[in-house]
Amino acid sequence: MNTERFESRKADHLRLALDPKMEALGESGFDQIRLTHEALPELNFSELKLETKFFKYSAASPCFVSSMTAGHLNGEALNLTLAKVASSRRWPMGLGSQRRELTDPAAKLEWTRLRRMAPNGFFLSNLGLSQLIVTPLPKVLGLVEALQAGAIIIHTNPMQECLQPEGTPQFKGGLKALEKLCKASPVPVVLKETGCGFSKETLSRLGRLGLAAIDLSGYGGTHWGRIEGGRAPAQSAQQGAALTFAGWGESTVQSLIAAASLQKNLKKTEIWASGGIRSGLDAAKSIAMGARKVGFAKPALEAALKGEAALDTWMTKIEFELKVALFCSGNDSPDSLRKGKKWQKI
Ligand code: FNR
Repeated sequence: MNTERFESRKADHLRLALDPKMEALGESGFDQIRLTHEALPELNFSELKLETKFFKYSAASPCFVSSMTAGHLNGEALNLTLAKVASSRRWPMGLGSQRRELTDPAAKLEWTRLRRMAPNGFFLSNLGLSQLIVTPLPKVLGLVEALQAGAIIIHTNPMQECLQPEGTPQFKGGLKALEKLCKASPVPVVLKETGCGFSKETLSRLGRLGLAAIDLSGYGGTHWGRIEGGRAPAQSAQQGAALTFAGWGESTVQSLIAAASLQKNLKKTEIWASGGIRSGLDAAKSIAMGARKVGFAKPALEAALKGEAALDTWMTKIEFELKVALFCSGNDSPDSLRKGKKWQKI
């Protein structure tokens, strides 16, 4: 891998991800979902409990920082800010793709430094499906070791790989590779999209792989087709196609409805929601619709860029909004909200 090109690609991604045009705002479907108001909650706000188990880790809430780019120079400072605050707030944190480490062993030093700074944090490793397919399993599992990760996320991103000039749209053998990883991995395996979601048909093929969780990461937030279009050379086919496909994807709400309809098929696999989650209320809606965990990427990035205090304040706001939604829907915990299923589509 060409390290210079890799770093400039990742820097482009960070810059473009902050541009509002790269988000499918208003398309997540959450505007059409209402939680049922409870005028007589029979609860005391101070007694609400958000604590949630992420596998063996006791997290402060069902919220986590979703995987974001690592492996380049500016990325490390950002990752350290995210990791420091996330671990102090007991928010699990997904790391960005660790692909670089597959060819550059020095890249793992970043994880050693991150671990030293946040010894008690819960981190999730990350690698793309097209890399998983062609990489020997021991090497993939080495990524978990370097980070002392509590789980590994494999991301699937067919739209991004198609539109990225250096993309690797080679996904043949993906299901088999996931199944093998699930069998061999000492830590839970999570499959996630990156902003285009999962249809019912796709989800129905995932029940027997041994996945611990599927993070739906639906359409309605950061859109990687748009971002790669922003990087593509002027007048190129990729730039034109990015406009054509700017509205492509299964929204987060559609993906949640699809997953809920396959509950039996996916009973050993948790459903997590991300993609366009912008408030604690969106998080609450996802939970009411069946999600056990809720991930935030761009909003966490924006807050982290302002510094540790801003990120901490943003986390407080998200947790507070989630509690308000619990209280006003008459639930004392995310579990109770999920089990009650008290939501309507308007
Ligand atoms: C991402 N995302 C991502 N996902 C992944 O699995 N591996 C990765 O390396 C990255 N890199 C990355 C960089 C940046 C800058 C952003 C904003 C996002 C995707 C991310 O985890 C999430 O699925 C989508 O961004 C949708 O969530 P939001 O941004 O709408 O909250």
